[in-house]
Amino acid sequence: MDYNLALDKAIQKLHDEGRYRTFIDIEREKGAFPKAQWNRPDGGKQDITVWCGNDYLGMGQHPVVLAAMHEALEAVGAGSGGTRNISGTTAYHRRLEAEIADLHQKEAALVFSSAYNANDATLSTLRVLFPGLIIYSDSLNHASMIEGIKRNAGPKRIFRHNDVAHLRELIAADDPAAPKLIAFESVYSMDGDFGPIKEICDIAEEFGALTYIDEVHAVGMYGPRGAGVAERDGLMHRIDIFNGTLAKAYGVFGGYIAASARMVDAVRSYAPGFIFSTSLPPAIAAGAQASIAFLKTAEGQKLRDAQQMHAKVLKMRLKALGMPIIDHGSHIVPVVIGDPVHTKAVSDMLLSDYGVYVQPINFPTVPRGTERLRFTPSPVHDLKQIDGLVHAMDLLWARCALNRAEASA
Ligand SMILES: Cc1ncc(COP(=O)(O)O)c(C=O)c1O
Repeated sequence: MDYNLALDKAIQKLHDEGRYRTFIDIEREKGAFPKAQWNRPDGGKQDITVWCGNDYLGMGQHPVVLAAMHEALEAVGAGSGGTRNISGTTAYHRRLEAEIADLHQKEAALVFSSAYNANDATLSTLRVLFPGLIIYSDSLNHASMIEGIKRNAGPKRIFRHNDVAHLRELIAADDPAAPKLIAFESVYSMDGDFGPIKEICDIAEEFGALTYIDEVHAVGMYGPRGAGVAERDGLMHRIDIFNGTLAKAYGVFGGYIAASARMVDAVRSYAPGFIFSTSLPPAIAAGAQASIAFLKTAEGQKLRDAQQMHAKVLKMRLKALGMPIIDHGSHIVPVVIGDPVHTKAVSDMLLSDYGVYVQPINFPTVPRGTERLRFTPSPVHDLKQIDGLVHAMDLLWARCALNRAEASA
């Protein structure tokens, strides 16, 4: 085989479809996020504002988090030096897991190197733990859940996004004695819509299924202690397994599950993705724990309130300009452009002409024809920066409309 030719063809296909991914090289300024510097391809530097980060609350630079990380780094050094089983379990890991278990009001928690790994490793292992397990999966579930569900081949049913009637129809048609699990998300990150948690829990109860929720885009940001949408809605006790990340609203790195002690013990003991991987560096565990603890407090609530307020203001102002935004009342602000080439062009112009950094979102992350810009206002974006963004979008929209008019004349 001509390996190089095969690689060239694969990459060319992405170019042809306008969805070749270009990484933007940025340097965040400590204490000044969302301000950053863009290291331009021409070697120059440009001041920009990051509008598409998932450091949703600015915790990645919060003094409480940085202090905990510095302290741990000085105390025990850089890496953990092993898997959890072979010298890689420390007081920092234990404290972090206790903090997470308390957050979700579960008996135990288990930390992984990412929420991707946590989803993949847990869901695939549940098939081993419960032979014949049927997994019911929302059609818009994240790639990490899909991978976990596919591994260790077993029955799966995909229900239409957030369609509980469809879920019910599928589950009712299966053997009542078969073990079952419903996997879904609380906030779907590309549209910013919410999963119907209560209705799904009702169906799970009726048909004896376990519930598995990914709260990656909700933890830290919803609920009085930041445990997510299930906490906000008083439904935490109805969820069997929580999945969350430490890398988005908590601003650090890593992922986890929280569940009964028995469930966590079994996953800990059987999941290759957990067993055979080096544990998180202690400083990371310390920073994540400090972040979760902080966001449980009234100070954390202030950040949540400010984030919601900024998201509302941005949506209101973009709507007022007639922009096609999706609004489900969450913290995510998607503006649908509907074409990969246009989306990339708008994103490029926003960056180079206005210092607004928002990455284009293309297929397969979103369906073709719904390519978009996805803005994530945070408590550390101020009203002046929101103003600057709205102004830039306004000017750019007018420029694009003018270009289209000229092209069709
Ligand atoms: C819904 C969902 N689950 C899981 C993940 C993976 O999280 P992590 O970045 O911690 O691997 C993501 C990442 O964006 C996500 O959007």
